[in-house]
Amino acid sequence: MGKRRLYIRTFGCQMNVHDSEQLAAILAREGYEGTDRPEEADLIVVNTCSIREKAAQKVYSELGRFRRLKSRSPGLRIAVGGCLAQQRGRELLAVAPHVDLVFGTHQLASVPKLLSHCEPDGGPVLETAFCDRIESLAILAPPLPGAVSAYVTIMQGCDNFCAYCVVPHLRGREQSRPGQEILAEIRSLAESGIREVTLLGQNVNSYGAGTPGGLDFPGLIREIGQVEGIERIRFTTSHPKDLSADLIRCFREVDSLCEHIHLPVQAGSNRVLARMNRGYTREAYLDSVQRLRNDCPDISITSDMIVGFPGETEADFRETLDLMEKIRFDNLFSFKYSPREGTAALTMKEPVAEEVRSERLKILQALQDSHTQERNRLSIGRVEEILVEGVSRTSSRHLTGRTRGNKIVNFAGEERLIGRTVRCRIAQAFLHSLRGELQLPEA
Ligand code: SAH
Ligand code: SF4
Ligand code: F3S
Repeated sequence: MGKRRLYIRTFGCQMNVHDSEQLAAILAREGYEGTDRPEEADLIVVNTCSIREKAAQKVYSELGRFRRLKSRSPGLRIAVGGCLAQQRGRELLAVAPHVDLVFGTHQLASVPKLLSHCEPDGGPVLETAFCDRIESLAILAPPLPGAVSAYVTIMQGCDNFCAYCVVPHLRGREQSRPGQEILAEIRSLAESGIREVTLLGQNVNSYGAGTPGGLDFPGLIREIGQVEGIERIRFTTSHPKDLSADLIRCFREVDSLCEHIHLPVQAGSNRVLARMNRGYTREAYLDSVQRLRNDCPDISITSDMIVGFPGETEADFRETLDLMEKIRFDNLFSFKYSPREGTAALTMKEPVAEEVRSERLKILQALQDSHTQERNRLSIGRVEEILVEGVSRTSSRHLTGRTRGNKIVNFAGEERLIGRTVRCRIAQAFLHSLRGELQLPEA
């Protein structure tokens, strides 16, 4: 059987990106090889997101684009997976009749079997059931040649039910992978040349909560810290209500744990936090930031923020800005509240008008830009450790990499340094990156 070609289009978060990597690995066993040209594909997979309405709209317009391809080559098969597929299921098949398969977030490992049920003249196939144990979590996605970083899923699902969020509805309840399985995967990644792992989960701080006697999250980090060859450990996302003193200690004790934490706060007002069902107050959050900075003064802290949650008043919004002024995040991902099907916030009273949401987002983003610049400028003159990821997008004579605090640094250097850790003195700071000068000797 000749090789068949697979094109995967991924929307959404890092977890979805990794799901696509795993799917490519499973389909490679079935004889599919990847292509980056949808026109020449035998199978197109769209891995979707539904976190905000805009994300869902992007998926629909992409599906529209693939309809034309299908009419030109009827042999082409189109599969849709991920969170929007989980959410819309049959409805997706009705609006996109050119789709052959819709599979849910727990069905990754079944995709080859489901595809075999897609007969040329049969109807489309739909499978969105949840499973008690998600098989795909253990699928090894071999890194691409030359890759230095890899994602490792440590848990799936979420039990938190924040009032605005679809994730618990679309990814199911929290499931942690066994620690030994995760460690075996990381050892094998290290043997294939991976230097940096990013541990993925919606709420990594509660890793292991359902498996008494097993490792908890700090325990897992300490074990990964012992794996030879892994120079950097990162993780995302960490829920503020479950940030333990033991995890904070890890930043000091585990050399390979990078000094960066993404700690989504979502709002700065206690009234809004309570309505969001976040489980902490602004005071508790400020205290966590203080404890992190006491233990690890150089830690880089990034966050997510939502503006215009139902009932958010001007005074609540000012509390958000005030929290930002107090903390001065290294970076912030901010979003206008988007009403989502099936969530508790959908039926909440006092919606905030679209113009008000837009205006608040603009104000908030301008403030954050000034904080990002200020935090980036603190690096000027410092010598930072950089893991070199590749050639810079803007100039072929420049390389690009990240500091341990997750800031992008561009610097002049030779390609042979890709994949190595070097030291750079930071010379200039911009909004989205830093410019460095390579220090000799290189390593
Ligand atoms: N599990 C992570 C985040 C998952 S979603 C966590 O708990 O933080 C990523 C971000 O999208 C969230 O942090 C939130 O800021 C944003 N988000 C989620 N639902 C949203 C909605 N309905 N409207 C606007 N932003 C939303
Ligand atoms: Fe969504 Fe909240 Fe779970 Fe994050 S913790 S995935 S925001 S429900
Ligand atoms: Fe989107 Fe699902 Fe991730 S809704 S953000 S792809 S968990």
